[in-house]
Amino acid sequence: MANIIDGKKVSAQIREQIALDTQKLVAETGICPGLAVVIVGDDSASKVYVKNKKKGCEQVGFYSEEHALPEDTTQQELLALLDRLNENPKIHGILVQLPLPAHLDEKTVIERILPTKDVDAFHASNVGKIMIGDYDFLPCTPAGVMELLHSVNIPIEGKECVVVGRSNIVGKPMAMLLLHENGTVTIAHSRTKNLSEVTKRADILVSAVGRAKFITADMVKPGAVVIDVGMNRDEEGKLCGDVDFVSVEKVASYLTPVPGGVGPMTISMLLKNTLTSAQNAAKKG
Ligand code: GUN
Repeated sequence: MANIIDGKKVSAQIREQIALDTQKLVAETGICPGLAVVIVGDDSASKVYVKNKKKGCEQVGFYSEEHALPEDTTQQELLALLDRLNENPKIHGILVQLPLPAHLDEKTVIERILPTKDVDAFHASNVGKIMIGDYDFLPCTPAGVMELLHSVNIPIEGKECVVVGRSNIVGKPMAMLLLHENGTVTIAHSRTKNLSEVTKRADILVSAVGRAKFITADMVKPGAVVIDVGMNRDEEGKLCGDVDFVSVEKVASYLTPVPGGVGPMTISMLLKNTLTSAQNAAKKG
């Protein structure tokens, strides 16, 4: 039976450290890390994510602002808000919750956030920096996965790592972080032929496809470490990951649960990036 990697516990430890570093920053410089979260429309999953991000800020002693905009917000209005947040010295991190309503252009919106305040690390300049291994911010979900692997001392060097999913938010940066730690990395996706042959090669398998119980035991090498980034609803409407937990638990050596695995880590990494941004602002004076 697999060992379960407890994302809540690892996340709580990271947040304790962030809270201490925040107290120190405030005491020494008077600067309190500030995060602005922008949400447009009423997507119910997005609302839950935003609520959790706000709660995370409170836990570690950050200043936070939530900007909940109506569904019919224009691109101009959203860009004007981002301009104000870019200039606001109380704000060190700006996050626009995705997906945006269809009439808004995600790329233009992301590119409007100052790279130094882009705590999601979605801006092209931050993505480029990650590619060359010279960055201030790591993308939150992939960084959270790396922390989980480190928390149970999983060596990555030389290991066969398979990432299923090629999104800009998770799949592509995930592959890059595993590569930085000398993993042998394959990115599989919806057009991959013989997917289960590919996933079965993995010593470390990361799934980010967004399909409930998609990864079954027959797709997993016995003893593999399986990280589930999915956040889906099953046929009964219950929260579940991409991995069929009950069957995969019997073959994997380590497995992350949903909820309580990668999810809390994503928010902890967002808080870490916001703290880094505030520390950088303090250095600049
Ligand atoms: N939507 C789903 N995941 C994320 C994320 O990590 N950041 C933002 N901004 N939106 C998301």
